[in-house]
Amino acid sequence: METMLGGHLLHGCDYNPEQWLEYPEVFEEDLRLMKAAEINSVTLGVFSWSVLEPEEGVYDFEWLDRIIGRLWEADIQVILATPSGAMPHWLTQKYPEVMQVRADGRRNLPGKRHNFCYTSPIMREKIKELDVRLSEKFGQRDNVILWHISNELGGNFEDSACYCEQCQAAFRQWMKKRYGTLKRLNQAYWGRFWSHSYTDWEQIHSPAPHGEWTVTALEVDWRRFVTEQMSSFCLWEINAVRTYSKLPVTTNFMDFFKGLDYHRLQRILDIVSWDSYPQWHAQKDEAPVAVRASAGHHMMRAMKKQPFLLMESVPSGVNWRMFNPLKRPGMHMLSSMQAIACGSASVQYFQWRKGRGSYEKFHGAVLDHKNGSCTRTFADTARVGRRLKSLTGLVEGTVNRPRVAVIFDWENWWALENTTGPRLDIDYVSCVLAHYAPFWEMGIDVDFVGMDDCVEGYTLVAAPLNYMYKDGYADKIRRFVGEGGIYVTTYFSGMTDESDLCFIGHHPLEDVLGIIQEEIDAPGPEFENSMIFNGISYPVGNLRELIHVSGDTQVLACYTDDYVKGMPALTAHSFGRGTAYYIAAEPDRALLNALYKEAAGKAGLKNPLGIPLPYGVTVSLRTNQDGGGLIFVMNFKNEPAELCGFGQYTDGETGEIYKHQMILEPFSCRILISEETV
Ligand code: GLA
Ligand code: ZN
Repeated sequence: METMLGGHLLHGCDYNPEQWLEYPEVFEEDLRLMKAAEINSVTLGVFSWSVLEPEEGVYDFEWLDRIIGRLWEADIQVILATPSGAMPHWLTQKYPEVMQVRADGRRNLPGKRHNFCYTSPIMREKIKELDVRLSEKFGQRDNVILWHISNELGGNFEDSACYCEQCQAAFRQWMKKRYGTLKRLNQAYWGRFWSHSYTDWEQIHSPAPHGEWTVTALEVDWRRFVTEQMSSFCLWEINAVRTYSKLPVTTNFMDFFKGLDYHRLQRILDIVSWDSYPQWHAQKDEAPVAVRASAGHHMMRAMKKQPFLLMESVPSGVNWRMFNPLKRPGMHMLSSMQAIACGSASVQYFQWRKGRGSYEKFHGAVLDHKNGSCTRTFADTARVGRRLKSLTGLVEGTVNRPRVAVIFDWENWWALENTTGPRLDIDYVSCVLAHYAPFWEMGIDVDFVGMDDCVEGYTLVAAPLNYMYKDGYADKIRRFVGEGGIYVTTYFSGMTDESDLCFIGHHPLEDVLGIIQEEIDAPGPEFENSMIFNGISYPVGNLRELIHVSGDTQVLACYTDDYVKGMPALTAHSFGRGTAYYIAAEPDRALLNALYKEAAGKAGLKNPLGIPLPYGVTVSLRTNQDGGGLIFVMNFKNEPAELCGFGQYTDGETGEIYKHQMILEPFSCRILISEETV
């Protein structure tokens, strides 16, 4: 991918010069300061529809043409966006059907963004006319390197769907295709319960707060459909920009966004990119925030097992949270390096220059309203630019190749959090992050993979709250463990099939896990319990399965209290050449650390430095074809951290030699040369 992107790390930003068209001096200053900040790429046109097509059928590309030309002269590359993310008022006034309808049936009013119906033929036609022209005019320009389709698809907060009649009709078609007959649909939906059998396809309606919200299978199907419909819209735009251009395409994803199955959506893209806005400095302990940011990066890289792009981040603070801290000294560099460490080929910002008005005028940007470039933020940005420039040769051809996979699956997410019981507050992302954190703390890189993905080549697979088993998943895991893999899974796993129908008789992996699930207890907080593992007592949370073990299963810990006292709470089972761990009760952090340490040891996994890391410090490894590579050592504590006990390493940037010991400055990253992979 580096070659596709011109062989260097991108340092760029969303650039929205249409806000300043009446001020040519602003553009001149922008160009000068971009060079000063080592900006080598800008994303243009993300929300420019009303300027590109001020009236229906009247196009004005002159300003964009001029700007792209000047950027070319300045040796700055362009990621060119299609502007469907926000619609001009002439469009919504003339064709109200392009605006989304909410779940309660009300059509949105004009304004805001991400407000379009992705099914509407008029919306599709209008955007196509514009995209094809963009393709013709700019699709072969020397410094245009990538198409950026729309913006944060579905980014209308949690519920990204359109519920209009055209979408309902498309949903019915989708259901017909999926189930073929109403009989099969009714069986899959357990339709006789509450007399919910369908007798006509026209009776099908999307889930709604004032209608059918009680059938998880419908909820999951609706979200599958929304993903497919949005993908088809995205593909529609991709085909349009490809009319006169062969450039690769991306669209910018968001942090753990529930509305769309990114594992599916990414299939139509050439490059995965995302927008990362970690909530630094919300608390003094930055490690949980670093864990989440790192997980996001790993998720994006794992989708194509290739470098991804950090399309947006902020050099200072955002404006949309309750608290919006500025990045403390060192954090901008560190969080930027974290992205590179996890496999990014870029660091880019939203946005270059703070706008004067409207919603995001107080959102951080590289250039400030009052002080232009005379700011700490600008200096920090330029520093990152210089470092990326000097790193380019070093990171080229390297990528992370983890041996651990954590299963993260969108369909499972939808089903798990929609189903009723055993608790109503199950939080999949928090649980997955809790299982990921021990690897981050150990400095072991992870791929996040969906249940459809291949697990061959991994040594350890963790599958927390793996509630819904997709077709073929159990067989894949059986093979994986049989061939020597280490598998860790939890309570409330293997409960239902793809239609949310409960498995009857056996857990699909009963033979592999060596346990029999009985019921799951979800008592109130006063009913405390714990388990003792390797002599240490760990409190358990309020989801506790009652399980029984088969003959050769090892009981690693039992409940200590209540009526379940003495029953297994943590087990390990040898199956074929591998081992499957089962965590029957909600574990705390300390237990997960202890268990994954043991499991990683068994799997022969260690971090590239081969030493235990102090809390708040992690490492990430990007390897090259020869088995060598780069070790990114990152300190997320606002105080120095000491690392000792490793061998000898050379600093890839300064040439300094570290022998057995190193002190990391607060919020800092060093990049060491690794001679061999571990
Ligand atoms: C998203 C959007 C940007 C901007 C930023 C603000 O990432 O894509 O247009 O609104 O959020 O944080
Ligand atoms: Zn619609």
